[in-house]
Amino acid sequence: MGRLRHPRGLWRRLGSISARRPREYTAGMQGKTVVITGATSGIGAVAARSLAEQGARIVIIARDRRRAQETLRDLRAANSGQAHGAFYADLSRLGEMKRVAAEIAAAEPRIDILMNNAGLIAAHNRKTEDGLELMFATNHLSYFVLTNLLIERLRAAGAARIVSTASEAHRRARLDFGRLQDQKGARGYGTTKLCNILFTRELARRLAGTDVTANCLHPGFVATRFGDDAGGVLRTGIAIAKRLFALSPAEGAKTMVYLASSLEVAGRSGAYFDRCAPVQPSLAARSDEDATRLWELSARISGVGG
Ligand SMILES: NC(=O)c1ccc[n+]([C@@H]2O[C@H](COP(=O)([O-])OP(=O)(O)OC[C@H]3O[C@@H](n4cnc5c(N)ncnc54)[C@H](OP(=O)(O)O)[C@@H]3O)[C@@H](O)[C@H]2O)c1
Repeated sequence: MGRLRHPRGLWRRLGSISARRPREYTAGMQGKTVVITGATSGIGAVAARSLAEQGARIVIIARDRRRAQETLRDLRAANSGQAHGAFYADLSRLGEMKRVAAEIAAAEPRIDILMNNAGLIAAHNRKTEDGLELMFATNHLSYFVLTNLLIERLRAAGAARIVSTASEAHRRARLDFGRLQDQKGARGYGTTKLCNILFTRELARRLAGTDVTANCLHPGFVATRFGDDAGGVLRTGIAIAKRLFALSPAEGAKTMVYLASSLEVAGRSGAYFDRCAPVQPSLAARSDEDATRLWELSARISGVGG
């Protein structure tokens, strides 16, 4: 998301109103284990249900127990033959990211798909208990920490996939390493989504030669709970735009599901997708130097992945 000064152009770019034809999902998810964040709402909830319908067992990471139980009920209704499960963590907190990753690693000998999807936008610069900017911690560091701490379980699955939800909002962002956590609102959000693409780029480079792939995506501009807690005029702007332009969560989940399950992307790694097709991200998102630097910084902050 960029500045709200140019809302029309912005929303047109973020929206994927004329979604391309959905692909066939032919990889077969029977027997596969999917670990997903942000599945208690929005596109994550729809993607989790869709993958369950295709036969997968879903393990959600959630912070809200009531919403998690609702999601589990929905998953069991979609596919009662699998033992779907939930782990609990506030993914804005480093200690909780690490604890929940350790719990999952202990419980799951292999993970076929890791979907890093939890995220938010906040109008103001809010600090977590670790002193991190809230969006940076949740939208980027949780992806980084969970992936690094679960990588052996992904390797154990063979051709595992890591799917991270980024955004077209990355296009206006530039990484200023000295002020990475000083930002807020649409600009700060865009920075974290640029981080998602650079993270995927570096991750794919580090995974080269293994069977594990990493890709990321833009879901479209989607009418979910996204922005509802943003605060300020940002919340109002997003609410109006959602009414005018947004896709349904079912449309928004398509590229996530595609990357998790389609045979078309088997072996493909390091790419950014929109509407079930690879697209070139911004120039800033293609910097190998920044990708490596961001990885090293994230490892220093989190104490993992170094
Ligand atoms: N909607 C859009 O137009 C759009 C466009 C581009 C990219 N995206 C990205 O898509 C992803 C999913 O967003 P959405 O649109 O589906 O929004 P959403 O309906 O607000 O869902 C966000 C999910 O993230 C979870 N979450 C947020 N903070 C968390 C935390 N600290 N710990 C654990 N879970 C947390 C939420 O859990 P709770 O249920 O507990 O709140 C919820 O399950 C995000 O990464 C977002 O940046 C969205």
